[in-house]
Amino acid sequence: METIQLPVPRTQSAYSLERALHERRSVRRFSPTALTLEQVSQLLWAAQGVTHASGLRTTPSAGALYPLETYVVAGNVTGLRPGVYRYLPQRHELAPAGRANARAALAAAAPGQTAVAEAPAVVALAAVEGRTTAKYGRRGIAYVEREAGHAAQNLLLQATALGLAGVPIGAFDDARVAAALGLAGDERPLYLIPLGRPAQH
Ligand SMILES: Cc1cc2nc3c(=O)[nH]c(=O)nc-3n(C[C@H](O)[C@H](O)[C@H](O)COP(=O)(O)O)c2cc1C
Repeated sequence: METIQLPVPRTQSAYSLERALHERRSVRRFSPTALTLEQVSQLLWAAQGVTHASGLRTTPSAGALYPLETYVVAGNVTGLRPGVYRYLPQRHELAPAGRANARAALAAAAPGQTAVAEAPAVVALAAVEGRTTAKYGRRGIAYVEREAGHAAQNLLLQATALGLAGVPIGAFDDARVAAALGLAGDERPLYLIPLGRPAQH
């Protein structure tokens, strides 16, 4: 299947980092408003976008080995058919991936986490730990988990600056999430991050 070129991310805005730090909150209820492809582009860029000609990214990485793989499960995104897509940082593109009806399977893999079923999109961070453990041994596993924290925080602060919000979810069944997303055997899911416009109270 063909890849989807994402809109060019912006590197400036009038919304300050300090304001994003101050305003960020975990949000688990979303308005039914669709996300735009521009918003999805900006969020993925914040998490793992390439920011240097040498391939360095928005997020630091032990040894610059980049073990993280970023997926977006689109439910209600303008310009994206519902389904699973893998983010290709170097090309800033999305590659269709995963199985049909992934959202229902993903929600079932995270029981009680209604945001996974209801958000217009869910970003999933997974990791190929071997990329990092090949250099750092067992200690590399903890490095990879730290990196997922960097990427998730970048994403959540960017969401805040766009008037969006999300929640980083760690409570899920790894094997069922991997199956829902169609992950390769060497990929381990680390975070599910439902995203959208916060519901009005
Ligand atoms: C490693 C980690 C795992 C988390 N897992 C979940 C989760 O499974 N479900 C959930 O609703 N929130 C989860 N959270 C979000 C926390 O509940 C939330 O960050 C905390 O209540 C503080 O609120 P705040 O994010 O609005 O500052 C997780 C946060 C972290 C850092």
